[in-house]
Amino acid sequence: MRILVLNGSPRANGNTEILSEAFRKGAEEAGNEVEVVNLRGKKIGGCLACKYCFSHGGQCVQQDDMQDILAKLDETDMLVLSSPIYWFDITAQLKAAIDRMYAKASVGFHLDKTALLLNSGADHVYDAAIAQYKAMTSYLKWEDKGIVTAPNMVEKGSARQSPALQQAYELGLSLTA
Ligand SMILES: Cc1cc2nc3c(=O)[nH]c(=O)nc-3n(C[C@H](O)[C@H](O)[C@H](O)COP(=O)(O)O)c2cc1C
Repeated sequence: MRILVLNGSPRANGNTEILSEAFRKGAEEAGNEVEVVNLRGKKIGGCLACKYCFSHGGQCVQQDDMQDILAKLDETDMLVLSSPIYWFDITAQLKAAIDRMYAKASVGFHLDKTALLLNSGADHVYDAAIAQYKAMTSYLKWEDKGIVTAPNMVEKGSARQSPALQQAYELGLSLTA
């Protein structure tokens, strides 16, 4: 199947990217087609709640970098949300992209599977991010294929020593194409 990973970290080659790439490796080995989109540097405005999408077949009125991601979503069977924890939640970059998916909610999503990759400096900081993910996926009737958390990511690159690296890889590997 086709899998789109949205990496919400602004830091290049950071822990989120390391975990996203481990997931990609496993998922590709299992025969899936995977694209990792790094949101850093992209211009993605917040949803305007204008509901232009509701009267324009799911098209968003804002002509920014989200247009490309909305087009990719039309060809994606599974969406993976990958983020560091910022103040006990996902990053603003990833949340902005999720909010803009409202455009597709107006016409229905092609994808029906999802997963979540989180990492953080501390431990026990995932409640808000996981609650939002579970509520959203349940509301949209997406099948949750798994959640991986990597606590204690103190340094850039800590993820290379985390057991979560293998867990992200194995989650990808478990996905039959
Ligand atoms: C603005 C900001 C807020 C953060 N907030 C938290 C937090 O609430 N809890 C936590 O455990 N780590 C927090 N962290 C640490 C990051 O989650 C952690 O360093 C993560 O591994 C960074 O991922 P990256 O390497 O992909 O940038 C924060 C970091 C930043 C820059």
